[in-house]
Amino acid sequence: MQNYGKFYQKSWEERINHISQNEKLTKEQIQILKNSAHNKSLGDTMIENYITDYSYPEGIAFHYLINNKRYLVPMVTEEPSVVAASSHGAAIIAKAGGFLAKTSERLMIGQIILESVEDSAKLIIEIQKLTKDLLVVADQAHPSLKKRGGGTRWLKTRILAEDLVVLNIAIDVQEAMGANMINTMLEAVAARLEAVLRQQVLMSILSNYATECLASTTCKIPYELLSKNGFAGEIIAQKIVQASRVAQLDTYRAATHNKGIMNGIDAVVMASGNDWRAIESGAHAYAARNGQYKGLSTWKISGDYLVGELEIPLPVGFIGGSIGIVPLVSLNQKLMKITSARELEQIIVSVGLAQNLAALLALVSEGIQKGHMRLQLKSLVIAAGANVAEEAVLVDKMLQADKRDIASAKKILTDYRKKDKNG
Ligand code: MEV
Repeated sequence: MQNYGKFYQKSWEERINHISQNEKLTKEQIQILKNSAHNKSLGDTMIENYITDYSYPEGIAFHYLINNKRYLVPMVTEEPSVVAASSHGAAIIAKAGGFLAKTSERLMIGQIILESVEDSAKLIIEIQKLTKDLLVVADQAHPSLKKRGGGTRWLKTRILAEDLVVLNIAIDVQEAMGANMINTMLEAVAARLEAVLRQQVLMSILSNYATECLASTTCKIPYELLSKNGFAGEIIAQKIVQASRVAQLDTYRAATHNKGIMNGIDAVVMASGNDWRAIESGAHAYAARNGQYKGLSTWKISGDYLVGELEIPLPVGFIGGSIGIVPLVSLNQKLMKITSARELEQIIVSVGLAQNLAALLALVSEGIQKGHMRLQLKSLVIAAGANVAEEAVLVDKMLQADKRDIASAKKILTDYRKKDKNG
């Protein structure tokens, strides 16, 4: 390992030179690093040891009709077919009247873990007596939140083990995701506990299991909108219900079912400048809330309709964190025409359900590969070296080919450049 000491103190140019020399980068590689560094000052503000920007494609999903309002949905993803599938699912649901989406209160939970507890029952009584005071301490650590109508709402204690007690504090964070605010407030409470009760604190941190910040959505699709590839809509609906049952019964399938939902959710969470790891961990913890990991969405038949439902924790922010400093995020908020974190939650949860519908529809009818084949072949021919102008012709050629792997894509590209192009 070469010497990278004090890398963070170097200017961007010095970092590029340093890493290029140490790692013996070629001229072309250095150029890639430089050309991709689109916003150096922003990068330096956001993270440490910044060298370049790793960019993801952003696309727009159409046809979203949520609570009678139409939305354009910006999605950031590297996976082919996610945006197309999203629009497809949303279009079917729009024809059926759209999504009905709701949000709960927007409370985040902060945790203070107390260790080396000698008498947990006694400690809990002492904390209960102090509750009012502790909530005031928390609110005083972030007075502007209280002024805006937010702040602490409740405090609950629980014994985790003989020597471990946890305090969960619920905080209304208004329009922010609030991680920093919460952590500051918790640390103030932890200091008070240590001072007044002489109690040892192991750690203070927000919980990503955001059970008090839920978003839910439903849709009701008449059978006739579901017919596909010669299958009657009613049959497709029944198969989707079966797929939903399987995701409730089998963890292997549940994880994939939920991955499909998160394909859509993460893409909008990213486009909106939010922390997708936080949303992922909360969603998966919620999927296991009854002791077994299950599919997050359910599909049932009611009358001649297929009814879909999805509920997940969505502690996203509309302001704060990187949201205010990344220009594309404000632009995406404008494209969505949203004015609050709640409205963003309603879009995101609905995208999750549309994405799930599109995946299940493909899986129970033609199979996922056929539907996605063109998009996958497009990625393959680009990986083989095709340029944008060659892409469509090469995909057509790959569709005719016996083998659809990178080696055959490269061969087809070479042959095409030799023969087809030159005459
Ligand atoms: C692929 O990214 C997502 C799917 O596997 C989801 C699913 O199986 O439900 C198609």
